[in-house]
Amino acid sequence: MTTDTTIQINHISKIYKTEAMETVALDNVSFAVNKGEFLAIMGPSGSGKSTLMHILGALDTPTSGTYILDGENVENLTDDQLADIRNRKIGFIFQAFNLLPRTTVLKNVMLPMRYAEIPLEKREDTAKKYLEMVGLGHRMYHTSNQISGGQQQRVAIARALVMNPAILLADEPTGNIASAQAEEVMAIFQDINSQGHTIIMITHEPDIASHAKRIIHVKDGKIIKDEKNRQKLAKHNKNIE
Ligand SMILES: Nc1ncnc2c1ncn2[C@@H]1O[C@H](COP(=O)(O)OP(=O)(O)O)[C@@H](O)[C@H]1O
Ligand SMILES: [Mg+2]
Repeated sequence: MTTDTTIQINHISKIYKTEAMETVALDNVSFAVNKGEFLAIMGPSGSGKSTLMHILGALDTPTSGTYILDGENVENLTDDQLADIRNRKIGFIFQAFNLLPRTTVLKNVMLPMRYAEIPLEKREDTAKKYLEMVGLGHRMYHTSNQISGGQQQRVAIARALVMNPAILLADEPTGNIASAQAEEVMAIFQDINSQGHTIIMITHEPDIASHAKRIIHVKDGKIIKDEKNRQKLAKHNKNIE
């Protein structure tokens, strides 16, 4: 393992057990992600993408296998350490946004910093900065149920970024928005990836995946292909020529 490796998933399986049956959501999955990568995980509905995302975000634990995050086996961390990692190291963008509906956009974005006990003034300044960045400087005092789906998605992005996380995890970040807005969201992702943030994004849309530098394809809980996005790399090389 090089020092550039931030995520190492080794032979991870996840089996959901209910009284009636067992579902194998992930079946012996292994891969590593280096710092600064922009990775898309693609696959049909039910293929295990969200399960994988929850494990990567240390929100859930695998049934077997190991997850090494920045050289540490996640299994050995205490609940407090895990909560701290989730707050400081990882930014989440969930499929359903998970915003507080009757709370202002500004307060929603300030929330992660409150958990981290950052002083109020700094929280407000930082939240405003990121809301400007995602083009919502003019909607800060609306409640999040008073803005459009695309705007809510951008609020969720701002909220994921305020703690300046090394890793951004996004589950179908454009799943509920129109394609023009999806392109705006991808432009923001490109921008933060070029600043050195690692991005892991789940999508089932090829257009969206084409923005990533690497694409892992999953099916029935298994990785069926792990490829460099040649189109993207060709474009990148052309730009730096
Ligand atoms: N909490 C759960 N309990 C039981 N089965 C689950 C649970 N979550 C997901 N599954 C099952 O695991 C499989 C993978 O689900 P998921 O990771 O959500 O896939 P995807 O995000 O690719 O649609 C599916 O068959 C799904 O029904
Ligand atoms: Mg899913």
